Amino acid sequence: MSQATSTIDTVWQTDLGGLPAPKRGKVRDIYDLGEHLAIVACDRISAYDHVLQPGIPGKGKILNQLTNFWFEQMTDLVPNHLVATDVADFPKALQPHADVLRGRTALVHKASVVPFECVARGFLAGSAFREYKRTGGRACGIDLPEGLVRASRLPEPIYTPATKAEDGHDENIDYPTLVEGVGEEMAARLRDLTLALYGRGVAHAEKQGLLLADTKFEFGTVNGELVLIDEVLTPDSSRYWEADAWTPGTEPVSFDKQYVRNWLDAEGWDHETAPPELPADVVEGTLSRYAQAFERIAGHAPDLS
Ligand SMILES: Nc1ncnc2c1ncn2[C@@H]1O[C@H](COP(=O)(O)OP(=O)(O)OP(=O)(O)O)[C@@H](O)[C@H]1O
Ligand SMILES: [Mg+2]
Repeated sequence: MSQATSTIDTVWQTDLGGLPAPKRGKVRDIYDLGEHLAIVACDRISAYDHVLQPGIPGKGKILNQLTNFWFEQMTDLVPNHLVATDVADFPKALQPHADVLRGRTALVHKASVVPFECVARGFLAGSAFREYKRTGGRACGIDLPEGLVRASRLPEPIYTPATKAEDGHDENIDYPTLVEGVGEEMAARLRDLTLALYGRGVAHAEKQGLLLADTKFEFGTVNGELVLIDEVLTPDSSRYWEADAWTPGTEPVSFDKQYVRNWLDAEGWDHETAPPELPADVVEGTLSRYAQAFERIAGHAPDLS
């Protein structure tokens, strides 16, 4: 792995000449092409809502290619925003930039974004675990059994939506709050779809010896039709654990961003001031985990060329 990855250049951000300036998310550069968007997954990584330095070379390609893999697995459950994934099929204006876009860019339908994150959880981790401890047994308004510990398996997967805040500090909400935001019918569709997509992901991951502990989906509407957008079941948006090593009450062996969060926590960072710079071994360790997640799920190595 390291041999292949150490030679890759980091794409921190893109500035494509001849196009309007992109909107930059924490990870992606988004070019507005009118009816379509070109979404470029760069090599930035964020944790605790802060973008960290330096980038993780090739990470954007892994996220983009894994999302495309999952979109394909899910087409019978929900349509997605993809228009084209092969640079050769992109509009003329993007062709001069083919080398930088290749493997990390999706041409998509511009959607009206549903302003809630759709989270499914089969295990107790992250904000749900913190909330469970704080409230003495609830997460997002859902009563959970007593005596659960970090990484416990839940009796059944739960839907725990969150706000999609502009400042990035998303907050968990209960189901009635989602209904207030989008109406009864849409809330039920988002919940049912989220759980169905999560179930599909869990089943596939399990075959590869991975537990998909939780994940976040985003939806939007295109011409009135509900579609899956953004990224799907990536190590940025999901927790992937080594099934063989899973022991409730202990920190799971994970193939996701948790490795970086743990390093930041060990450094004693306060999550507010400028984050410490990731050392080379943590950059390498992160990339290696993301690449392993990809390989185990897709069954082949990501194309980082
Ligand atoms: N088809 C689409 N139409 C419109 N917006 C989309 C579409 N697909 C993804 N997006 C948006 O593009 C952005 C992706 O960029 P990125 O993942 O870097 O953002 P982020 O920092 O995670 O999120 P945010 O912008 O919400 O803080 C997200 O805001 C996502 O909602
Ligand atoms: Mg995002």
